Amino acid sequence: MAEPFALPPLPYADTALAPVISAQTIGFHYGKHHKAYVDNLNKLVPGTDLEGRTLEEIIVATAGKPDKAGVFNNAAQVWNHTFYWNCLKPNGGGAPTGELARKIDAAFGSLDNFRKEFANAALTQFGSGWAWLVAEGDAVKLVKTGNAEVPFTKGQRPLLTIDVWEHAYYLDYQNRRADYANAVIDKLLNWDFAAANLAKG
Ligand SMILES: [Fe+2]
Repeated sequence: MAEPFALPPLPYADTALAPVISAQTIGFHYGKHHKAYVDNLNKLVPGTDLEGRTLEEIIVATAGKPDKAGVFNNAAQVWNHTFYWNCLKPNGGGAPTGELARKIDAAFGSLDNFRKEFANAALTQFGSGWAWLVAEGDAVKLVKTGNAEVPFTKGQRPLLTIDVWEHAYYLDYQNRRADYANAVIDKLLNWDFAAANLAKG
């Protein structure tokens, strides 16, 4: 049977985010962890009532259902990681412009304050999970999710995320999650991707 889900190509070379995120980390994170979620999903979905549905449809259909946790966790982690790689770019960071810049100023007072609060959300997510900038209604805000949870099952549109599972940073930063989060925010965030996500609304 054909495998319905594929590991999307990285949007840059595996060396492109160094030294903030090393090629070794990407080798494990993308090449092993992300790939494993795709492989698991390809084992779990064929032959079930979810066959033929999109990744997003599977995530929404299985969210909050304990008997579907295996499918949900792997589907959401495939989605989360593809989104995360696109939230980063070489020579990223800097400042948003236009509508997104206005919404960040309205919600956080300043870009500097947003950066501090985003890093703090990444630091204070207890255990494995994700820190997100999301759009909800007319505003933007920060949320944290545990494990594989995604904001869009709760009506929040993801704009940016930072993966705070240990596999995202341990080879490069060991236990220093705050250093990883601050380096990502300062040097890798892809504000063009965030603005495009906002514009989709
Ligand atoms: Fe991850």
